[in-house]
Amino acid sequence: MCGIVGYVGKQDGVPFLLEGLQRLEYRGYDSAGVAAVKNGTLRVHKAEGRVRGMADTLPKRVAGPLGIAHTRWATHGPPSDVNSHPHVDTEGRVAVVHNGIIENAAVLRAALEADGVVFASDTDTEVVAHLVARADGEELEDRVRAALRQVEGAYGIAVCDATVPDRIVVARNGSPVVLGVGNGEMFVASDIAALVRHTQQVVFLEDGELATVTADGFRTFTLDAQTTNKTATEVDVTDDDYSRGGHAHYLRKEIGDQPEAVRGTLRGRLDHRFATSRLGGLEINARELRAIRRVKILGCGSAYYSGIAGAHLIETVARLPADAEPASEFRYRSPVIDPETLYVAVSQSGETADTLGAVQEVQRKGGRVLGIVNVVGSSIARATDSGIYLHAGPEVSVASTKAYTCTLTAFALLALHLGRVRDLGPGDGERLIAGLEALPAQIEEVLETEEHIAAVAGRIADATSAFFIGRVAGFPVALEGAQKLKEISYVHAEAYPASELKHGPLALITPDLPTIAVVPDDQMLEKNRSALQQVAARGGRLVVVGHSDPGDGVADDVLLVPRSEPELDPILLGIPLQLLAYHAAVALGRDVDQPRNLAKSVTVE
Ligand code: F6R
Repeated sequence: MCGIVGYVGKQDGVPFLLEGLQRLEYRGYDSAGVAAVKNGTLRVHKAEGRVRGMADTLPKRVAGPLGIAHTRWATHGPPSDVNSHPHVDTEGRVAVVHNGIIENAAVLRAALEADGVVFASDTDTEVVAHLVARADGEELEDRVRAALRQVEGAYGIAVCDATVPDRIVVARNGSPVVLGVGNGEMFVASDIAALVRHTQQVVFLEDGELATVTADGFRTFTLDAQTTNKTATEVDVTDDDYSRGGHAHYLRKEIGDQPEAVRGTLRGRLDHRFATSRLGGLEINARELRAIRRVKILGCGSAYYSGIAGAHLIETVARLPADAEPASEFRYRSPVIDPETLYVAVSQSGETADTLGAVQEVQRKGGRVLGIVNVVGSSIARATDSGIYLHAGPEVSVASTKAYTCTLTAFALLALHLGRVRDLGPGDGERLIAGLEALPAQIEEVLETEEHIAAVAGRIADATSAFFIGRVAGFPVALEGAQKLKEISYVHAEAYPASELKHGPLALITPDLPTIAVVPDDQMLEKNRSALQQVAARGGRLVVVGHSDPGDGVADDVLLVPRSEPELDPILLGIPLQLLAYHAAVALGRDVDQPRNLAKSVTVE
C-alpha cells in the first residue's frame, strides 16, 4: 500500500526519493509524487501512474537538500494527478505525505471550508496540510502536534515547510515510520526497503510518537511534547536482499529462495539433545506451556491458510485442540478470550491492520499472543507478547511464497516444542527434527521439476475456473494453491475438502474445469482415490500433487514431491502449486509481482 520516503541532507535529495519510491513499488500503488525544498521554496510534482512516468516528467527545478515523496493507494478519492501526494496548503508552503486513513476527515474538511479554505483534492490528507499551515506554534513540530491532536484515525506522516527548510517532521499512529541515520544526512521511510541501500542504522517510531529530523540527527517525542529517547538499531538487511537476483520476477526468485529461507527459520532452533526445538523468543516457560489448553491462530489471506495447516500440525503433534480464524473476522465478533488459550498471530509484513487489530483485541481482554512474523521490528512483532521470527529474508512480490512456507516450518517448530513439553516421545521428536533438517534439500528437488510443472501450467492456464481439493492435512494446501492461482493469474479458483465434492461442487465438473488434487500418501489416500474417480468419471481434467501416481490412468498430470514425515507433508506439497500458479500467470502475461488491485501489506481495513 502507500509508501513514504523523505530526505534531509546537504546534497540534492530527489534522486534518493525517486530510488526510494521505486523500492516501495512492490507494495502496490496507483500514483506517485515528490516535494522538494530549495532556498526557501517548495516545489511539488505528482502524477497518476507509475513512479517512472512521474520521474520522466519531473521538472529540473524540483530539487533540493530536503524533500518528501509518496506512492499512493487510493482511499479517499479516485487515483488522479490532483489526489496524488504530496498535498500542500493554500499558500503552497506546507507539504504532507500520508499513509493510512483519517477517519474524521469529512468533519475537519467541513470546518476548514466554512473558514474559507478551498480544497484542491478529494483526499483526507489535504486536511492535514491546511491544519498544519493554520496551527499556532513556534516550531514546525509544535504545529504538526497541534494538527495531529485534531486528527482521528491511522497515519504515518511526513511534513515539511518551506519556511523551515532544514527539517522534516514525521509522526506515526498505526502506520509505520522508520528513520535512517546517515553521515550528515537523514532518511525517512515507511519501509526499510527504501533506505537500506544507504544505511543499516534505523529508528522505528512507536504509535503516538513523532520525530523532528534534520541533516545532523533526530529528536523523538510524543503528541504531548514529552521527549522519548530513542537510539538507532542496526538491521541485517541489505539492498541485495531486495534485488531480483537475475530472475524475471521477484516471485520466481522468492520461490527459489525457499531452501535457504527454510534454513533461516530452522537455524539454531533444533535441539537434538532433548529432541525438541529451541525458540528463544517464545518467553513462555515449560510450566506455562503445559497450562495451555487450546491454541487459536489468527492471520489474513495466506497467513490464515498457513494457520489452518499450523493448527492441524499442533493438534497432531502436541495433541492440543487448535484452530485458525481470519483475523479480519475475529476482531469484530466480540470473541471470548480464554486465559488458557495461546493466541498466535501470523503475519509476513507484521503490518496487516486486521491482524494487528485482532492482537490488540486479545490483549485488551487479558489474553496472551505469540507472533509468527517475518519483518523484524514491525508493528505486530512489537505488539505481541512473544514471538518467532521467520528469518525468511525480505519478501517483495505481492503474493506470499517463502514467508508462507517458512510460517509452516515455524509452526512445525512450535508444535514440536509444545509436543515435547507434553506427551510427544523423544523418538517422535527426533523423527520430526530429521524431517525438518531434510526439508531444504527436498525443496530443491521439487524446484528441479519446474520444467514439467511449467508444461502442466500451460495446459491449465486457459481454463476460466479451477478446483483445488484436498483432505485433512491436504486441505489447507489446496486453499493456498487456489489462492496463489487466483491472485497472480486471475483464473478463478476455489478450494474444497475433497470429501465435500459430492455435496455440491461436483455439479460443476466438466472437461473444461481442471481439478488440482492434493493427494499425499497418507491415511486419506484411499478416500482421496475415490474422489479422483468421481472427477474422472465426469470427464474432469485432473492434476494430482502427491508422492506417487494414483494409478488407473486417472490423473492427466502428476506433480511429485519427495516423501517427508507425514506431519510435514503440507510444506513440500505447497511448492509445486506455487510454481504452477507462477507459470500459469507468466503464460497469461500477467503482472506477476504486482497483481491488479492487490497490495503487499494491507495497512488499512
Ligand atoms: C497472498 C498474500 C496475502 C497475505 C495477507 C496477509 O499471497 O500475500 O493474502 O498473506 O494479506 O499479509 P501478512 O502476512 O503480511 O499479514
